[in-house]
Amino acid sequence: AVDIAKLRGQSGLITIDPGFKNTGSTKSAITFLDGEKGILRYRGYNIEDLAENSNFLEVSYLLINGELPTTDQYEDFSDRITKHTLVHEDIKKILDGFPSVAHPMGVLSSLICSLTAFYPNSLDPNNTDEEIQLSMVRLLAKMPTFAAWAYKNKMGHPVNYPDNSLDYCGNFMKMMFSLPSEKYEIDPVISKALDKLLILHADHEQNCSTSTVRMVGSSQASIYASISAGINALWGPLHGGANQSVIEMLEAIKADGGDSKKYLEKAKDKNDPFRLMGFGHRVYKNFDPRAKIIKKAADEVLEKLGINDPILDIAKELESAALNDQYFVDRKLYPNVDFYSGIIYRALGIPTDMFTVMFALGRLPGWIAQWKEMRENNEPIGRPRQVYVGETERDFVSIDKR
Ligand code: ACO
Repeated sequence: AVDIAKLRGQSGLITIDPGFKNTGSTKSAITFLDGEKGILRYRGYNIEDLAENSNFLEVSYLLINGELPTTDQYEDFSDRITKHTLVHEDIKKILDGFPSVAHPMGVLSSLICSLTAFYPNSLDPNNTDEEIQLSMVRLLAKMPTFAAWAYKNKMGHPVNYPDNSLDYCGNFMKMMFSLPSEKYEIDPVISKALDKLLILHADHEQNCSTSTVRMVGSSQASIYASISAGINALWGPLHGGANQSVIEMLEAIKADGGDSKKYLEKAKDKNDPFRLMGFGHRVYKNFDPRAKIIKKAADEVLEKLGINDPILDIAKELESAALNDQYFVDRKLYPNVDFYSGIIYRALGIPTDMFTVMFALGRLPGWIAQWKEMRENNEPIGRPRQVYVGETERDFVSIDKR
């Protein structure tokens, strides 16, 4: 075994591992996953059990604190979050500055980062554990408010304030969908499906956005700045943005006559940059356990809501064609969580460019737990090396001689 402490500060052999496919960046006790067997556990609990029996706030507590809460602990945690759902009125002025075409992910990351200005104390790396706990509660409490406001900004609607008589998902849905002129009723089927989706997205060890949160946090930046960076990392189409890309791809296939086989061939063509969005995963090489749960939830929601969506038929055709195609079988490319999450979000009436925001809402407790672990482990600043491949030393040439 290598004694890492002894290696600290030493230079020597540099390994190169593009995309960090085989490089562990940390030791972590939060999430276990086995990509070959399709196992995902938070703090030792199987994702299937948590999705079936728990709720998002309980899972958030588990991820952050390491244990499932007792009734008293749960009530205290939930009450604290409820108390902090309101945001400073001046944050609305920041929101008003965004044009309605602004992507809600950009709005969300900016509003989260703005918390550094409203709570400047968070910039102090010597914050006490209580102060850190308060920042975590604020994040969990205010993120749904910001997410719903980002949507309202896009729609040109007045924002809704939090309704603290509702649970986490109910409050979010009301802020998203209710209009001053209408009475808004929360559909328990939709609320439950949403809660399940948030649980499934809550953590996924050292993925791109989580590694970003830990990397930014390792410089002792504020937790708000670190989470804001994580939101930006999640935004990309190869990460959280894939759920939006899936629906856009399915819509494009429909507009082009609905021939899913044609797109399957395109995805296999190495001269064509097109990829089948929602297929493949860096770690899961047999199946994505979250995709299994979500697929069932998608079927339930669509049946309950009586939705018959032609996009869904294309998704099913594409899935079965890919599962029987040698290219996809050889490369172990299966539908991932994002292939189905977009379908549920669409059925719930959530617009496409809010999908990744929904993912961010779910991933938040994971980011928080990972940031907290990084801090508690007193991890050194993240600073990868490189293998230099540029010019060797050369003489400066003045501009008139170039
Ligand atoms: N469609 C077609 N071919 C694919 C796809 C796809 N969706 N995904 C991978 N491949 C092929 C690659 O072209 C490559 O083929 P080759 O060996 O012949 O060159 C092989 O499969 C391996 O692909 P890599 O890109 O090396 O795999 P990697 O682990 O780096 O990438 C990723 C994983 C980014 C998820 C990739 O599968 C992809 O781009 N999928 C589509 C985007 C997507 O759904 N992202 C969501 C990920 S889940 C999440 O973030 C929650």
